Amino acid sequence: MPTIKFLTTNAAVDFPDGDDVNLLRVAIRNECGVPFRCASGNCGTDRVYVTEGMDSLSPPRRRERDRLGELLDQGWRLACQTYVSGDCALTWDPDQKPLDERAVDRSLPSAASERLTKRWLSEDDTA
Ligand code: FES
Repeated sequence: MPTIKFLTTNAAVDFPDGDDVNLLRVAIRNECGVPFRCASGNCGTDRVYVTEGMDSLSPPRRRERDRLGELLDQGWRLACQTYVSGDCALTWDPDQKPLDERAVDRSLPSAASERLTKRWLSEDDTA
């Protein structure tokens, strides 16, 4: 069973072999403390530095490349845009802010963010 290690908060989450899980969704559901704002690849608030297991992550898509730029080549990923299929370990700055304040305008308003969190925490939402 693969494990995602959230080193900054000393949390670890196992998931079934053969699954592809969204990194931010796992972090929210398990209260692992990854900061986030838009959950759609716009703000960059949920960037995580991959210390192990880069091969277990989905290839970055255009939106993530555009948002992270050279940070991507340095080992950073956006949790909301990344799917995990095997063991990996991550760190981040618990106080990190959006990469680009202009992108925050496109972020979810806080009420929508709360709804998203609630939905991702609900037991019947399994994807
Ligand atoms: S939460 Fe992932 S880019 Fe905004």
